[in-house]
Amino acid sequence: MPRSALITGAASGIGRATAQALGAAGVALVLTDIDEGGLAETASGLAHARTLRCDVSVEDDVQAAVAFAVEAFGPLDVLVQSAGIEGPVAPLVQQTADEWARVFGVNVMGTFFGLRHALPVMARGGSVVNVASIAGLNAFPLHAAYAASKHAVVGITRTAAVESARAGIRVNAVCPGFTDTPMVEDGLRKAGQTVADLTRLIPARRLGTPAEVAAAIAYLCSDAAAYITGQTLVV
Ligand code: NAI
Repeated sequence: MPRSALITGAASGIGRATAQALGAAGVALVLTDIDEGGLAETASGLAHARTLRCDVSVEDDVQAAVAFAVEAFGPLDVLVQSAGIEGPVAPLVQQTADEWARVFGVNVMGTFFGLRHALPVMARGGSVVNVASIAGLNAFPLHAAYAASKHAVVGITRTAAVESARAGIRVNAVCPGFTDTPMVEDGLRKAGQTVADLTRLIPARRLGTPAEVAAAIAYLCSDAAAYITGQTLVV
């Protein structure tokens, strides 16, 4: 496994589960999020974790987080970009420019800032995993801004993978299906739906767990995936 990792969105859900999975494998962690209480909770069970408030939509924050990680643990082995927001749940024609700017600010610009500042300081053999979504590969009715932003994450991932290959850095995305986190709870509430409404659409008839997505992320970060880059792993 890698030695050090910077994880965004680590205060909750998939980011937290990824911190737990990598932490259990002995990886030294820098955990970031805008939710400092949640961050402290994630870090409390982990031996080698430092935390830092970082809004991924603010480039200076991201630059500072990368510098903090390098200062703490040396050249970065892993960047996991899990911070993300769902945005408006409404037909496309009712969504506003401000809502789109907010979703793109976090999901797209945040991903770009992370790559822009981390790639130059990553160790050879390093690995980036961007958390996209099945909404980055398929239609997602009532979530046009979110789907567009996650398609963008897939495009950034594929392009960064090709550009970084010669430096020995891999860039992949996981594309989770519906996963049992606060984001899905909020989305269901906004759409006036229940978990049962959702699971009816899922062949396995259940939500994924954050730990199941984290396992896929940990795999992509590991030497077992040493020749895999530019891919979108649907979970
Ligand atoms: P979550 O809501 O549990 O966690 C998201 C975390 O991102 C929160 O801790 C939140 O504070 C943080 N965050 C939000 N805006 C931020 C910002 N500007 N800067 C830094 N941190 C910020 O949600 P979940 O489900 O763990 O989501 C993680 C990623 O997985 C997101 O990118 C999401 O789009 C993606 N995803 C989630 C799916 C699901 O069904 N839960 C399915 C597919 C993708």
